[in-house]
Formats: sequence, structure tokens, C-alpha cells
Amino acid sequence: MKKFEVFVWPLALMMLVVVSGCGNSGSTFDQLVSERRSVRSYDATKKVTEDEVRTLIATAQEAPSWANVQGTSYYAVMSQDKLQALQPIMGSNAKNIADVNVVLVTTFKQGASGFFDGQASNELGDGWGAFDNGLSNAFLILKAKDMGFDTLIMGLRDADGLRRLLDIPNDEVVTSVIALGYGKAVPNRPMRKQLHEILHIK
Ligand SMILES: Cc1cc2nc3c(=O)[nH]c(=O)nc-3n(C[C@H](O)[C@H](O)[C@H](O)COP(=O)(O)O)c2cc1C
Repeated sequence: MKKFEVFVWPLALMMLVVVSGCGNSGSTFDQLVSERRSVRSYDATKKVTEDEVRTLIATAQEAPSWANVQGTSYYAVMSQDKLQALQPIMGSNAKNIADVNVVLVTTFKQGASGFFDGQASNELGDGWGAFDNGLSNAFLILKAKDMGFDTLIMGLRDADGLRRLLDIPNDEVVTSVIALGYGKAVPNRPMRKQLHEILHIK
């Protein structure tokens, strides 16, 4: 072997290891964030597995929460009969979940996050439960994108209908419903505000 090859091949191999170690899909964090979109049409022929749902929720669990309360719960609707039963209680969002095989209903425990000894710590009260829930869902949708899935968070839903369908306890507040699947078409990025409109450096 030539002297030059002795150095080049190990170096090339090392670079390959480093590059392939940058996340499962090879995306950078910025790519993930910019490519994630709310997707409203899915490929009915491609299914998400139960194991993949577990991986996703394990990542969502890594999100921070008030005093590590971890008040967020996920109800993964995957059975055919329950997916059918969701249709009439999702209103205008029903069409958005028609072709997915996983719908995640998210909740947070009432009077937990933001509370000490049953007393709200400040004026936000259960707002902190919703805050933690949103953080957890943010981890979830980015991990989903990293795994090659698309998502749609839906706030328009019938909370009582979902509670009855999934036996959600009364001390849990139903928040969003998240469609999970393989998107058929990637929508354009909705415009964001100018940075100076939301960033106030004092
Ligand atoms: C809390 C919340 C509730 C939402 N509710 C709905 C909904 O009910 N139906 C829907 O089609 N999209 C819903 N969306 C998606 C937003 O419309 C979408 O995130 C926004 O337009 C920005 O687009 P992007 O996610 O592709 O960046 C919701 C998003 C959030 C975070």
C-alpha cells in the first residue's frame, strides 16, 4: 500500500463514522426544525408501528416539566374500531386523520404542575400543566420528523367525546390530538413574524 493510502483510508472511515453519528436520519437539528410542517394528508398504505410509537413517547418524556412532575399522558389510538369512532368527534379535523393509523390524544394531570401541596404556586395555575404538555409535544413532533414521520397538532376536538371514548380520568385535562403518519404532500412553510416583532432585548 502506498504511503498516502495508509493515511487517507483511515481518515475517510473516521469522517464517515462522525457524519453518520449525527442523528438517525442524518438531519441536522436546524434541518429538522425547518422541514417539519403540519401535514393534513397522509399515505394510507404506510403504517407506523407500536414500537415506533414507544420510541417517540420515550423522547417526549425527556422534556423538562415543573419539579419533574411529568404530568403529561399520551393515549395512542391505533385500533381500527377506535380510529373509526374518532371520526365523528374530530369535527373539521376528521378528514386530516382519515388516513393515519396512529392518533395521539394528549392530556395533563390537573392540579399537579405548578402546584405545591395542592396550592397553585402563582397566577398561572394549571397553565403550567399545559405549558409542560406543549413542551413534551414539541419534543415529540421533532422526534417524529427525525424518524421520517409527519404530524399535525389539532386543538379543534371534542374533549368530552375523547374522554368517553378513551376512558380518560376526570383529573386529566384533554389538550391536543396529534395525527402521526407518513405525509403525502409537504405543505409550504406558513410565514413567520419578523424576529424584531417577537424578540425584545432590553
Ligand atoms: C395548539 C395548536 C393547535 C392547532 N390546531 C389545529 C387544528 O385544529 N387543525 C389544523 O389543521 N391545524 C392545527 N394546528 C396547526 C397550525 O395551524 C400550524 O402549526 C401553523 O399554521 C403553522 O404551520 P406549521 O406547523 O406547518 O409550521 C394547531 C397547532 C397548534 C400548535
